Amino acid sequence: MKHLISIHDLSLEEVNKIFELSAKLKKERKQGIPHPLLKGKTLGMIFTKSSTRTRVSFETGMYQLGGNAIFLSSDDIQIGRGESIYDTAKVLSRYVDGIMIRTFAHSDVEDLAKYGSVPVINGLTDYLHPCQVLADLFTVLEYKETFKGLKLAYIGDGNNMANSLLYGCAKVGMDISVATPNGYECDRTVYQGALEDAGESGAKILETNDPREAIKDADVVYTDTWVSMGQESEKEKKIKVFKDYQVNAELFSLAKKDAMFLHCLPAYRGFEVTEDVIDGPNSAIFDEAENRLHVQKAIMVLLMG
Ligand code: CP
Ligand code: NVA
Repeated sequence: MKHLISIHDLSLEEVNKIFELSAKLKKERKQGIPHPLLKGKTLGMIFTKSSTRTRVSFETGMYQLGGNAIFLSSDDIQIGRGESIYDTAKVLSRYVDGIMIRTFAHSDVEDLAKYGSVPVINGLTDYLHPCQVLADLFTVLEYKETFKGLKLAYIGDGNNMANSLLYGCAKVGMDISVATPNGYECDRTVYQGALEDAGESGAKILETNDPREAIKDADVVYTDTWVSMGQESEKEKKIKVFKDYQVNAELFSLAKKDAMFLHCLPAYRGFEVTEDVIDGPNSAIFDEAENRLHVQKAIMVLLMG
C-alpha cells in the first residue's frame, strides 16, 4: 500500500489490516495509552473544498500519533494562483512525509501521487471519498461484527459517496443496493470495477430507480446530501428530482428492524433525511464520524510509519 486514492486499489488483506489497526488504536486511545507511531513526521493537508471532519480528524490524528499536520488551504498556497500539481508534488515531497488532499478533480490526486515521492491520501474528490467509506465499513463491523450476509442500501445521488460505497462493499463482500433517480446513477467505470471485486467477494450489487426496492430488508441504510460541494447552482433542480429519495420514517421502516442509519455528514435534515431517522435510535452517525479519526490514524501509520 503506497497511497490511498481508491478502495479499489487495495487488496482485501490491506483493508482488513486497516480495520485491525483502527480497532487497536481506538482501544488504546480510550485507555489513554499513547501511541506516537509517527513521531517527528509531518502531513501536508491540501484543501480546495470546505471540511469539518476531514480536517479536524486528520490534524488531531497526526497530533495523537506524535506528528504534525499543516493545513494548506488552496486560497493560501500557490496552487490557488495556478502553480501546477507537478511542481507542488515535487516541492512538498521535499518537506513533508505524506500529503492528504481534498479537491475537485480526481486526476489531481492521481497526479500528486505520480509526481511526488511521498504517500498521498485522498480526502475526497468529486469521484471518490475512500477514507469516509473505510470509516463507514469499520463502523458497520463494530455494530454487526461481520459483513457476511449483510446488505447496505444507498438512497440518493450517485455521487462520490455512492461510488466509494460500491467499491467498499464489493471489496469486503457486503451486498449493496443503490437507488438513484434516472440520470444520477453511479459512475460506470466504478460500477464495472465493483462488479469485478464482487465476483471475488461474493457481494451482490443492485442498481435501481426505486428506493423501496433498494431499502427492503437492508441492514445498513445510507444517504448523502443531494447537493455536493461544487453543485450549488443545481440545488433547486436537484431538490425537485430527489424528493422521492428522502430517507424518512416511512421508507426506513422497510429496512430490517435493527437496521443502522449512516450518513457521511454534513447532513441536511428535511432534505435527504428526516430528523426522526437521523436523530432516531438506529442512527450511528456520530460513532461513524468518530471513526474517521481512528481509521485515518491507521491509514497514516500504514502509509507513513
Ligand atoms: N464527511 C466528511 O468528509 O466531512 P467534512 O466535509 O466535514 O470533512
Ligand atoms: N457528496 C458530498 C460529501 C461530503 C463529505 C460532497 O462531495 O460534498
